[in-house]
Amino acid sequence: MDRFLISGPTRLEGKVATSGAKNAALPALAACLLTPEPVTLRRVPAVRDIATMRQLLEHCGATVEESHGALRVTAAEIRAPEAPYDLVKTMRASSLVLGPLLARCGRARVSLPGGCAIGARPINLHLAGLQALGAQIWQEHGYIHAEAPHGLRGALVHFDRITVTGTEDLLMAAVLAEGETVLENAAREPEVVDLAELLAKMGARIEGAGTPTIRVQGVGRLHGAEHTIIPDRIEAGTFLIAGAITAGDVVVTSCLPEHLGALLVKLRQAGAEIAEAGPGALRIRRPGRLLAVDVTTEEYPGFATDLQAQFMALMTQAEGVSVITETIFENRFLHALELMRMGADIRLEGRQAIVTGPRPLTGAAVIASDLRASASLVLAALVARGETVVDRVYHIDRGYEKIEQKLGALGARIERVSLP
Ligand code: EPU
Repeated sequence: MDRFLISGPTRLEGKVATSGAKNAALPALAACLLTPEPVTLRRVPAVRDIATMRQLLEHCGATVEESHGALRVTAAEIRAPEAPYDLVKTMRASSLVLGPLLARCGRARVSLPGGCAIGARPINLHLAGLQALGAQIWQEHGYIHAEAPHGLRGALVHFDRITVTGTEDLLMAAVLAEGETVLENAAREPEVVDLAELLAKMGARIEGAGTPTIRVQGVGRLHGAEHTIIPDRIEAGTFLIAGAITAGDVVVTSCLPEHLGALLVKLRQAGAEIAEAGPGALRIRRPGRLLAVDVTTEEYPGFATDLQAQFMALMTQAEGVSVITETIFENRFLHALELMRMGADIRLEGRQAIVTGPRPLTGAAVIASDLRASASLVLAALVARGETVVDRVYHIDRGYEKIEQKLGALGARIERVSLP
């Protein structure tokens, strides 16, 4: 099991490039199951969740080849339309194959995900949507079984609450369903739009992606395509926060600033100076003190829950009291307890974290509980005096590509230690 040794405090300076978005690449890979023809995806990040999705596609019968940094997936034949427990338990996004497998094969078997560090994370809304498209669904031995032997039929699907992978799953089911499907209260995340763009290149007919109502006219078959995954807005946001917390001067390149709106507003309110530094590049500096600002997580275009933990690390260094409200997941504050061990003043009250700063942080042994929590501990370690040991960095490897190399190039003193 690997851990990071991080010595602080440091000031970050220089340029760092954003990788492709993990949460856009995962549904894009699942979408490859919809056609027997090859689909080529560029800028797929080399992170562990992608390796898991690749294994899942191969388990289903697809071949995945890597060439010149692109992945070429050919699902000529689906041998096993299923997502086994071993893969689903390491990555909940495995449920993204349910919609495409059902649409392509008329049946699918997907293990139920089980517990998760950040909340219950059920998939009931995916299932209700697929039932509306005519699927029969039942649960047995820890697996969801879905069948639509005569194909799916277009229908109105109204999501009781906004779900990102739920919207993506239904979109992938609807593209091969007979007739029109309308997805209401759909997620508007850029990752949903990116998936819709890929599906359109494969021959799907979709309107309204990026709005709460998506209309899909089902087609008989999809064909191969080539697509470049959008930049990872959460990774870019994490580097911007790294620049702000270390009072550094950081240029984040290969990003899409229009996907970072809510974060940029909060960073500016907190005292950071952010300017465009060429196409797809943002420069962040923080000349003076950091000021406390309140943040409430919301669905896109609101403040992303996937940046909440990192922003909390920043607020430990800000003057005043910051109230951070988490509305998407019920248990996404585990990082607060670890930040407190480093000296942060944080009070947890249900869905709110009340952070009083600035507090000097000192290095400590801390444990990463989930992907974004680990990123927040790394950020805190950059400004903590002395050495921080971040354990269980396999969480961070799920979604950040070469993070220690990227931060190291900006001047962080960070080292990966592999334990037998
Ligand atoms: N929900 C239900 N029923 C469902 C689906 C969701 O009650 O059937 C609830 C969830 O429990 C949660 C809320 O709805 O409280 C929103 O969950 P959503 O379905 O939108 O989350 P997700 O699709 O499982 C994706 C990202 C997450 C990100 C969330 C929210 C991927 C692969 N994952 O998850 O990313 O936090 O949307 O934006 O796209 C991460 O990258 O670290 C990560 C956790």
